[in-house]
Amino acid sequence: ENEINARVDWALKSFGLEAYRYYQPSKLSGGLKQRLAIASTVVMGSNFLIMDDPTSNLDWNGIKCLRETIFYLKKIGKGVLVLSRRLKGLEDCFDRTYYLNGQVFEVQAKNESNSQSFPENLLQKNVVGNGVAIKISGLWFKYEKDYVLKDVNLEIPYNTIVSVMGPNGSGKTTLVKHFNGLLKPSKGDVIVDGKNTRNYSPAQLSKYIGFVFQDPDRHIVSESVWDEVTFACKNLGLPLDGGEKALRTLNLHDLRDRPPYLLSMGEKVRLMIASALAIDPKILVLDEPTTGQDDKTLKLIENVIFKMKSEGKSVIIVTHDTDFALKVSDKTIIVKDGCVAECSNAKNVLLDPSKVELYELEPPALIEERVK
Ligand SMILES: Nc1ncnc2c1ncn2[C@@H]1O[C@H](COP(=O)(O)OP(=O)(O)OP(=O)(O)O)[C@@H](O)[C@H]1O
Ligand SMILES: [Mg+2]
Repeated sequence: ENEINARVDWALKSFGLEAYRYYQPSKLSGGLKQRLAIASTVVMGSNFLIMDDPTSNLDWNGIKCLRETIFYLKKIGKGVLVLSRRLKGLEDCFDRTYYLNGQVFEVQAKNESNSQSFPENLLQKNVVGNGVAIKISGLWFKYEKDYVLKDVNLEIPYNTIVSVMGPNGSGKTTLVKHFNGLLKPSKGDVIVDGKNTRNYSPAQLSKYIGFVFQDPDRHIVSESVWDEVTFACKNLGLPLDGGEKALRTLNLHDLRDRPPYLLSMGEKVRLMIASALAIDPKILVLDEPTTGQDDKTLKLIENVIFKMKSEGKSVIIVTHDTDFALKVSDKTIIVKDGCVAECSNAKNVLLDPSKVELYELEPPALIEERVK
């Protein structure tokens, strides 16, 4: 028993989960669940660990905890295999890195480069929309006794791409779940496309606002990809060709007869995006859309985001991926301890090293390159 307790203490401490020791796992945020999943595997003391996309949903501190753990496991003679699209923050952990791209290449971990170029002109598309997409005034929210959102005030105009960032458990998912009326404010108001969410059900709001959840496994309901992508169209009495088009846009048309539970995580996320797009919403919320994507599929998602903006619509993206946020978003909202700590031009926030440190964000490749 002592051995079990010692290991559990170590694992909770290593992954910053001490405060959540007696929490129900279902009530943890997405990133905290991911930390718990890794900690519970590490605690078993196996000699070899395989981690499939362990950094998805992790904030920068979570990635640093994982890095320390991998170093520790190596030091005590264990083996670790990590499968991931990007190794940012973990580069120096590995003795070997393999790129799988049809063929297998072995490369030195040191040579791995995360640098990306940022196409400046992509954000300057034709302005179509105007007016306010989402207006939040004096929003307070609690699940149980403590407030998780505290006096949030925000305005998101149409024709804007916004990234929502901040540490695991800070309240990002809770905030965006207010946008489609899934959560109703404990105090204050959320107005979406001119409608107070208190007076509308999520089903009614789904006409205007598409929502892609952080955890697709809990939200996919149909027996086939085609049924899932046309689910909302059927409910709203809309033509089904929106579903067909969306499957093509997200490169899923070859999978239309598959049961969704057989898809990879990245395909499930894209299926949820396609299902949201099928009804051509004016506002799209993507909670951690980069999960499970590779560079090619990430590009498809980028195209969806930029196309929405070119039509004057708004996209709100919750992400820990600073490079992705920099590439796609006009504005960044930082949520910290349930408050909006920052809401301004994405580059002003994400390329400012003091803000990146203050808000515990993943440093973008651009800052790293400047430092070099
Ligand atoms: N259904 C729930 N019941 C009780 N508490 C909850 C519930 N869902 C979330 N919480 C708590 O509310 C806080 C904010 O969670 P939220 O999911 O909004 O965080 P987040 O910023 O999205 O984090 P992550 O980056 O890990 O996804 C956390 O402390 C979380 O444990
Ligand atoms: Mg979340």
